[in-house]
Amino acid sequence: MKKLVIANWKMNPASYAEAKKLAKAAGLSAKKHKNVKVVVCPPFPWLTDMSHEKEAGLEYGAQDVFWLDKGAYTGEVSPLMLKNSKVKYVIIGHSERRRLGETGQNINMKLKAALANGLVPILCVGEDAKTHSKGKLSVGKFLATQLREGLRGVDQNMFINKKLIVAYEPIWAISTTPGVKKDTPENATETIFSIKKLVARMFGILLSDITVLYGGSVDSENAYGFLSCPEIGGVLVGGASLRPADFGGVVKIASELS
Ligand code: 13P
Repeated sequence: MKKLVIANWKMNPASYAEAKKLAKAAGLSAKKHKNVKVVVCPPFPWLTDMSHEKEAGLEYGAQDVFWLDKGAYTGEVSPLMLKNSKVKYVIIGHSERRRLGETGQNINMKLKAALANGLVPILCVGEDAKTHSKGKLSVGKFLATQLREGLRGVDQNMFINKKLIVAYEPIWAISTTPGVKKDTPENATETIFSIKKLVARMFGILLSDITVLYGGSVDSENAYGFLSCPEIGGVLVGGASLRPADFGGVVKIASELS
C-alpha cells in the first residue's frame, strides 16, 4: 500500500503567496514521486482556496473541525463546509489542541462528525515526556485512554475500509517541544504495534486493517528509518513540511519505500 506523507503546516505561513509556493513545491515532489500519497494541511485561511484550485498530485486536509454541520457557533468550521470544499482529511486531537483544552469527548464528537461527512480523520495520540519517563506500562495506559475516548462509538468498518487513520505523535519528540528528544524507529515501531493491537482488540479487526502514521521531528535525514518499518503507514510532518527541499526528500523516500 502507498505510504502517506501528511504536511501539517500548523499556524504557518503568514501569507497566501508563501502558502502557494509551499503547495507548488509539494505538488512537484508528489508528481515526481508517484508511489506515495501526499496530503497538505494548511491553516484555514489558505485551505479552501487551495483545495478548490487543487495543485496536481496533492490532497488537502484541515487541522481541526467542529462537531456540528451548521449553526450559531462563532469561529468554528464545520465538517460539511470542509466536505463541500473538496477537503478530504482532517487532523483531530493534535497535542497542540489538547494543550489548549480540547477534551477526549470533544475529540470523539469531532471524529464522528468528520466520518459522517465522509472526511478521513487522522486521530492524533501521543504521550508527554513525564509519562514517557515512567516506562512502557504508563505509556500504554495513557495511549489506551486517548484511543478509547477518541474512538468511542466508531464503526469497525471505518478501519476496515481505511476511512480512519491514527497518528502516533509522542509530544516529547515534536520538534517545537522544549527539550525535544530524538525518537528512534525501534521505539516508534514498538509503540505503533501496541496501538494496533489495542485497536484491533477494541474493534475485533485485524492489525492490517489499521493505518498508523508516525509524527515527531520527521525530516529527510531520519525519514528512511521510520518509513522502512512495515508497521508505519506514513508520516505526519510538521517543521520539515515548511522547508520544500526537506519535505521533498521525505516524499521521495516514502515513494521508494511504498
Ligand atoms: P514536527 O515534525 O515539527 O516535530 O511536528 C510534528 C507534528 O506535530 C505534526 O503534526
